[in-house]
Amino acid sequence: MSRAAVILAAGKGTRFRSELAKVLHPVAGRSMLRWVLEAIRPLDLDRIVVVIGHQAAAVTAEAAAAQLPGLITATQSEQLGTGHAVLQALPHLGDMDEILILPGDLPLIDTASLEALSASKVGHAAAMLTMTLTNPSGFGRVIRSEDNAIARIVEHRDASRSELEIDEVNTSIYAFDATVLADELTRLTTHNDQGEQYLTDVIAPISTAGGVAGATACAELYEGVEWQSEQQSLAGVNDRAQLALAGAVLRRRIVRAHQLAGVSVLDPSTTYIGPLVELAPDAVILPGTHLEGKTVVAGGAQVGPNSRLVDTRVDGGATVTYTVALGAHIGVGAMVGPFTYLRPGAVLQPRSKAGAYVEIKSSTVGEGSKVPHLSYIGDTTIGSNSNIGAATVTVNYDGYRKHRTVIGDNVRIGSDTMLVAPVKIGDNAYTGAGSVITSDVPDGALAVERTDQRTIPGYAERRRHREEA
Ligand code: UD1
Ligand code: CA
Repeated sequence: MSRAAVILAAGKGTRFRSELAKVLHPVAGRSMLRWVLEAIRPLDLDRIVVVIGHQAAAVTAEAAAAQLPGLITATQSEQLGTGHAVLQALPHLGDMDEILILPGDLPLIDTASLEALSASKVGHAAAMLTMTLTNPSGFGRVIRSEDNAIARIVEHRDASRSELEIDEVNTSIYAFDATVLADELTRLTTHNDQGEQYLTDVIAPISTAGGVAGATACAELYEGVEWQSEQQSLAGVNDRAQLALAGAVLRRRIVRAHQLAGVSVLDPSTTYIGPLVELAPDAVILPGTHLEGKTVVAGGAQVGPNSRLVDTRVDGGATVTYTVALGAHIGVGAMVGPFTYLRPGAVLQPRSKAGAYVEIKSSTVGEGSKVPHLSYIGDTTIGSNSNIGAATVTVNYDGYRKHRTVIGDNVRIGSDTMLVAPVKIGDNAYTGAGSVITSDVPDGALAVERTDQRTIPGYAERRRHREEA
């Protein structure tokens, strides 16, 4: 059996009040559209048609970025309704057997629910996913016949008083026999309050007619457990408040999957883990932590509280607290934080340290070496077991170019040293506190650059006499 999906993503999303097309808004680490595409990826569909309209180029680019085989876009230049949108996709669907339809603004859709929907369709011409809401306002209501079969859908604004009492609503997720759908779409009218072609109008004839060969002409209800408990935010995301709700649900799902896989996440409600993050069993994630991009945390490492890691690798036994790290690599047993900023290319080798108020960029801190306090280390290589005194700065920028600093093994850099790059400090060398080092220091040498101290005895006493005179 060949299967296709149509994703409705042409709408503007007026209630977002945004320059950005609704389906491109990010939630829990990727766009809404991308979440939908990732949910259908495992279905191995033969064709995926994304119906685009508003910001067509940007939506097309985002769809293409998913690199899903068989994905194409179809343009709906005027948004004349959900049925009209599917009509634009139809010519691209060839001779598929089954067509799944889902909205692009439903980031919470999951693969299992779609599989179950497809399974429930067997023996029927159509299946649709419905849900029951405590506040069904705004949704299409599901009208059932006396034998409890789905008879038709009525939109909120077209519904009668008694129909508005119904709390079972349409999720806009369907599976159809392709031929039945194509046939019914040709009969759509615009006889409704919005003057649009409603996709929902195909349900009634499929239900009643039975006029489609082999179909029992009945839409099926699929009740997924997850859908019931997360129903409010499942309702399709129409504004930014709902976007945040959906984000919370997605986040919970991600955290829970990691927890069940052996990761300690102490406070799911304040932990933000992106969809591409990899956490090994026995990693510990403390409250207030954001793990983004392709961050990887090994078992036995502890991250947080209150840290943000983007595209960063944390190896076993490392601790990272109150830290922002972008594109960094934190080695085995390394200690980072509190209040540390690691920028792209910062590499902390095993058991090294980057302490309080330290910024490191494009630099390697060698095994067992320490940058404990108040330093800027940029474009630098530090060997092993060296100590960088408090408030040391690598002066890497001359206003035109960046230059490198090389520090050897077992070096002791005195506090408040300015290392004016390019400069090289040899193994076992020392620099005196407060020195501005502008030329290379050989192995084992001490470099001091400061004037001799002048001490004036009795100064305070004399000063007091002068002021009191
Ligand atoms: C739709 C359903 C309603 C259901 C609700 C669930 C119809 C007529 N109504 O209503 O029964 O309860 O979803 O969320 O289908 N779109 C297009 N082109 C268009 C119109 C819409 O691509 O011309 C896309 C939108 O971008 C959106 C999706 O279709 O992703 C749903 O459209 P929307 O206007 O939000 O439909 P609702 O009024 O919410
Ligand atoms: Ca909607």
